[in-house]
Amino acid sequence: MTRVITISAVAIVLTLAVASVAIPRTRENSGQGDSARENMVAEGPSYNADGSLIRPDDYREWIFLSSGYNMTYGPNAPDATRSHPFNNVFVNPAAYRHFVETGGWPDKTIFILEIRESEERVRPNAFGYTQAKTLQMEAAVKDSRNGENPWAYYSFDSDEGLTDSAMAFPPTARCQICHAANTAVEQTFVQFYPTLFEIAKAKGTVNPDWSPEIVIEEPVAVR
Ligand code: HEC
Repeated sequence: MTRVITISAVAIVLTLAVASVAIPRTRENSGQGDSARENMVAEGPSYNADGSLIRPDDYREWIFLSSGYNMTYGPNAPDATRSHPFNNVFVNPAAYRHFVETGGWPDKTIFILEIRESEERVRPNAFGYTQAKTLQMEAAVKDSRNGENPWAYYSFDSDEGLTDSAMAFPPTARCQICHAANTAVEQTFVQFYPTLFEIAKAKGTVNPDWSPEIVIEEPVAVR
């Protein structure tokens, strides 16, 4: 816990430092705010002219929410040949602050899901698992530009490594279906982000039909 707080504190300090100079990356309030915090409130997803989402290169300075380890869904048993990946979830700091205050996500929220290979037996760790190279990267964005359902999903994966930008998956994609059906708050897996889940329960923003019972019946190919 101490470590998480330390990392978050460093991230905030770094983000403040970056936000004060990163005017081109800020949006609506660019140049109008006279404090670093106002600039930070303006950060969020950035898009190319063709509507594709630009992969953020500073997400490691955002707020770290949690790591899932070797997660599988439905009856898919853990596969011994898999690399037992870690899923690290980050959210932009302005959205995090809004959630802490309200229990919900504001417009222009952006999440990065960073999937990393795990390693064993790297000196001096004999039996546990540590994080290694990035395997995949995905994003979820809440943006009013998306229409009635503001949530859109993106993957930066390709055979040649991570792409610089990505188009949104269509509303029929598995991302939308699983996220709409199994999430505790809006379309996000707040049940796996322990400090935020407590806030959502206190603010009464947990989806009324959410329960921890597993309801996926069929094997699901995730990614
Ligand atoms: C079968 C269910 C399932 C499918 C399909 C799925 N996800 Fe997720 N996703 C999860 C779970 C569970 C988490 C919780 C975090 C974790 O993995 O540790 C998550 C977390 C995320 C997050 C972090 C923010 C959040 O919503 O909590 C992003 C970003 C994300 N997924 C993107 C995608 C994208 C893009 C796709 C489609 C290519 C996708 N997901 C498909 C189950 C799913």
